[in-house]
Amino acid sequence: MILVTGATGLSGQMIVRELALGRVPAKALIRSMGKASAIGLDKLPGIETVEGDMRAGDDVKAALDGVSRVLLISSASQDMRETQCNFIDLCRQAGVQHVIKFSGAESGIGFDPAKFRFTRMHEEIEDHLEGSGLAWTHLRPSQFMQVYLREAAAISRDGELRLPFADIELAPVAIEDIAKVACRLLREGGHESESLDMTGPEALTMNEVAGRISAATGRPVRYVAIGWDERRSALLGGGASADFVDALYEQLQERLSRPRSRVHLATHDAFGVQPTSFAEFARTYARAFSG
Ligand SMILES: NC(=O)c1ccc[n+]([C@@H]2O[C@H](COP(=O)([O-])OP(=O)(O)OC[C@H]3O[C@@H](n4cnc5c(N)ncnc54)[C@H](OP(=O)(O)O)[C@@H]3O)[C@@H](O)[C@H]2O)c1
Repeated sequence: MILVTGATGLSGQMIVRELALGRVPAKALIRSMGKASAIGLDKLPGIETVEGDMRAGDDVKAALDGVSRVLLISSASQDMRETQCNFIDLCRQAGVQHVIKFSGAESGIGFDPAKFRFTRMHEEIEDHLEGSGLAWTHLRPSQFMQVYLREAAAISRDGELRLPFADIELAPVAIEDIAKVACRLLREGGHESESLDMTGPEALTMNEVAGRISAATGRPVRYVAIGWDERRSALLGGGASADFVDALYEQLQERLSRPRSRVHLATHDAFGVQPTSFAEFARTYARAFSG
């Protein structure tokens, strides 16, 4: 049996849907049954929702009963390292064979993972998993294309993509592509002791991102390079925690000093996944970007 954690989140949810589409039986660990049913997880064929907190040993032991392969996802938050390292220890005790760690790797050429707390934590969790004696695979996507949906309200209202990214490039990847790889890893196993980086098929400036959203929606959208103070206020005003905003500042500093991005499609190629372009992504989500 397979277990997916973080199943109500942005990436976990899409991966569980992909499993259901492929008729792959799996358990989905969720913290709130209300949230799971609001997004329809409880009605997916072959998916058993299991309520529990990854930090609660008894919940995890019950969820891991009969499980041989796990996809490990939790929020980018201050307790991510502790949550996931403890969870890995519980997997070992429960006799799980293979843990696929949903990690992250920036596309910026020369980006130093030690400079951004969440990539640093991901690498520390990867080290812990590698030392656990369990079979492991690290799935390491770059920025998700879906993060631009967070700017959809301003894009549809003002026709502006307002971000503090100057003229740097990023190579965002569609979660749909990651979900296809994760689903095959969960179903078939293999790729043990491998780190599977994934970016999207193009390194794009924000002018290019805005241009693709504009083409998909048929409305003018322009990139406005804003300063950190405006971005910080917008994030805090939108409900982000001060810690999370501080983390994004660390990431921004490193991104600004590493302005060019690599494109890495070896994982797409190895799994036979056609890379989703940003233009395709923007067309799929055109209604969201149009308001
Ligand atoms: N954003 C990006 O561009 C990007 C790129 C590469 C990698 N990543 C990494 O991808 C990972 C997943 O990101 P995401 O955006 O999909 O996350 P997300 O939407 O924040 O979802 C996190 C999921 O983890 C669950 N969770 C957190 N703590 C838990 C706990 N103690 N017990 C049980 N469940 C718990 C959450 O449950 P609730 O719904 O109950 O809160 C939610 O289902 C993160 O580690 C992030 O660093 C992100």
